[in-house]
Amino acid sequence: MFKLKRGVTSSTIFSAVLLGLLSMVIPVGQSFAASDAELKQAKKEMRESRKEIRKVMKQAREKVKQAVRGGLVYKTYCVLCHGENGSGDARMSVVHNNLSLNITKQTSEYYEKIILGGGPAVDRSMFMPTWEDELTAEQTQDLVMYLSMVTDADKRGEIVFKTNCILCHGVNGDGMGRASVLFDPPPADLTRSDKNDVYKKMIISMGGEAMGRSSVMPIWSMELSESEIDDVVAYLRKILVVPYPE
Ligand code: HEC
Ligand code: HEC
Repeated sequence: MFKLKRGVTSSTIFSAVLLGLLSMVIPVGQSFAASDAELKQAKKEMRESRKEIRKVMKQAREKVKQAVRGGLVYKTYCVLCHGENGSGDARMSVVHNNLSLNITKQTSEYYEKIILGGGPAVDRSMFMPTWEDELTAEQTQDLVMYLSMVTDADKRGEIVFKTNCILCHGVNGDGMGRASVLFDPPPADLTRSDKNDVYKKMIISMGGEAMGRSSVMPIWSMELSESEIDDVVAYLRKILVVPYPE
């Protein structure tokens, strides 16, 4: 289930990066490769790109808000037949026992079509009602976002990633985040990771230091729920440009 955690916002990452910056000014047993000139340049680049980072984070947070609103609409109109989070485990499933009422991963266009036009609009059962007269256009879009999120771990993971990790690991996860030049070793290029999901889950939960790696990689188990960590691990697997290590 897509779980919203309050308080895990840009402030988390900014404090993580601030910590990194501080420990660079006052090195605490951490070796940083950046010279003064590099540092100046890096800070300049950080300022310049902060806008872009903010934009990506803002977009990600907007999607979360939209999904939360969609969840409320869902609870009002859909839960009776489709159950919590589209599981299909609902009261009405007894009545429709020859139909599958769980909501599967589909495209946004498909969701929109069936919500507005009912089951027959996508060759499904007419027992799925039309909602065009019931819902506003905004509610429909919110619902579509909600359904996309609850049925797709990658999408949820992308949101977790974009709201917490991009300042270091880069918008695309390639390790080219703006803070990257400040750290040695630099934030990993997650698109070329040779680590498996189990390892990733561990380093994300427990931080770099516990894994014998850089303490610059923060501990996330206090900020993120276990399902959010699973989601972000799923997303990291999706963005790999090298084969997944067997
Ligand atoms: C009266 C019961 C009922 C209600 C209420 C209901 N649905 Fe459905 N829904 C169905 C049935 C029946 C199907 C079709 C099952 C089939 O044909 O296999 C379906 C199918 C769907 C599907 C397709 C699932 C898939 O994986 O292909 C989606 C998406 C969906 N409904 C969304 C919604 C949304 C969003 C709401 C609330 C606005 C809603 N439904 C309310 C009965 C209902
Ligand atoms: C403050 C900067 C920073 C932030 C924020 C950060 N990381 Fe990291 N991360 C690092 C650094 C530095 C390393 C490399 C550690 C090393 O090589 O010793 C790393 C390594 C990793 C690795 C290991 C990859 C591999 O192939 O070995 C994973 C996975 C990872 N980070 C995921 C995440 C995720 C997911 C988030 C957000 C929830 C995140 N990181 C946020 C700095 C950061």
